[in-house]
Amino acid sequence: MTTSTGPFIAAIDQGTTSSRCIVFDRDGRIVAVDQKEHEQIFPKPGQVEHDATEIWTNVQEVVAGAIAKAEITSADVKAVGITNQRETTVLWDRHTGEPVHNALVWQDTRTDALCKELGRNVGQDRFRRETGLPLASYFAGPKVRWLLDNVEGLRARAEAGDILFGTMDSWIIWNLTGGPQGGVHVTDVTNASRTMLMNLHTLAWDEKIAESMEVPLNVLPEIKSSAEVYGHVKEGVLAGVPVASALGDQQAALFGQTCFAEGEAKSTYGTGTFMLMNTGDKIINSYSGLLTTVGYQIGDQKPVYALEGSIAVTGSLVQWMRDQMGLIKSAAEIETLASSVEDNGGVYFVPAFSGLFAPYWRSDARGVVAGLTRYVTKAHIARAVLEATAWQTREITDAMTKDSGVELAALKVDGGMTSNNLLMQTLSDFLDAPVVRPMVAETTCLGAAYAAGLAVGFWPDTDALRANWRRAAEWTPRMPAEQRDREYKSWLKAVERSMGWVD
Ligand code: G3P
Repeated sequence: MTTSTGPFIAAIDQGTTSSRCIVFDRDGRIVAVDQKEHEQIFPKPGQVEHDATEIWTNVQEVVAGAIAKAEITSADVKAVGITNQRETTVLWDRHTGEPVHNALVWQDTRTDALCKELGRNVGQDRFRRETGLPLASYFAGPKVRWLLDNVEGLRARAEAGDILFGTMDSWIIWNLTGGPQGGVHVTDVTNASRTMLMNLHTLAWDEKIAESMEVPLNVLPEIKSSAEVYGHVKEGVLAGVPVASALGDQQAALFGQTCFAEGEAKSTYGTGTFMLMNTGDKIINSYSGLLTTVGYQIGDQKPVYALEGSIAVTGSLVQWMRDQMGLIKSAAEIETLASSVEDNGGVYFVPAFSGLFAPYWRSDARGVVAGLTRYVTKAHIARAVLEATAWQTREITDAMTKDSGVELAALKVDGGMTSNNLLMQTLSDFLDAPVVRPMVAETTCLGAAYAAGLAVGFWPDTDALRANWRRAAEWTPRMPAEQRDREYKSWLKAVERSMGWVD
């Protein structure tokens, strides 16, 4: 039974490994949570898929679970917000609601050859200029093209108007609002900015880019702001509740961390790690391997842009240690194991499982463990695994400083891995800056709830949201500068070894 009195806002976070629903009260406190993992499908090396039908079933279950745990009804919920793993691509039949293929996950590298071909024929710069993104297998547009080219008969069905495309936000909202019986086909500016099909300057689909990517415009959802009522939930425990926000999960975390001022930044430690810095109404082109993306747009207000450093593999490396290697039994055990040794024993682990993202964008890279000797134990490997997350963050904060000219004063962090104290201390040591974690570490869901709440007037403005932010923990640097510089050089040497592994 909840001790908070309503009304409430619900948020659905459709993430890479699980779907969850959280109910929040007006102070931004968590009232109830429900969560369910879904299957990770690895058909071939470098390929990652999800079953979109399983995901939709799980979403319905966790929504029902959270509402039941909170002991409330739809009448107590003023709005529901959506946040999601970005770039993951679903195509489905608009008449039956059936996905035509498993979803291609953001980590999937099968479009690498296609991206190289687009680079040769259309030019790298063209895409970056209009969309803010480098040509890489990470983004949704090339995944749509791959499906249209490889699923038999699909292109003809798409051209006949029978197929819809969506990232997970669109898929969930379409189903929530009625599916084949009248669901709305929309996305928001933050998710659209990850497709490589939206023009960052106009916030509309770029017809020329779509044409060069051979993606017909009629499969694309309507682009909306991140905070407005898109429609109402058609059935289930939230029937009748307005669906009032959508943000890619990293942008939602930026919002949940209340990084509303230019120059404010956060880093979220989930399956991957993503650092975003609010750049206000400025579209800053990166010269250091960062992405330019939309941070959020509230209703008809001006959009807020962001610079992003994306790291593909951080939490998923710990998962891999547990599930594929069997070196630990639970994710939490990595901290105990890594703490049992003084240092990494000379080992560096570059987890380039999906190539390297920021700042390199090298899909030809693959994972490397460097510096092995007979002395090394699994505890040293565990330590190198945690250090990999911290070094990768260091590389993107360096790039942020170069592009923005702003020295990092402190880093706001959130996400599952921030409960690992050794990692947080290591991060502060490697960045040589304080690392700060807020009271509500579930900032992704919180951001989606905040945006939905603003859209329906549950919260009056962003100042009210800022007042909810509270510091829970802070780590400050302890490592001598000479040691940090020496170890950083070794890390960079290991990174070099990972590149050029596949053609
Ligand atoms: O761009 C991919 C990102 O949105 C995935 O986030 O938290 O599911 O690893 P997460």
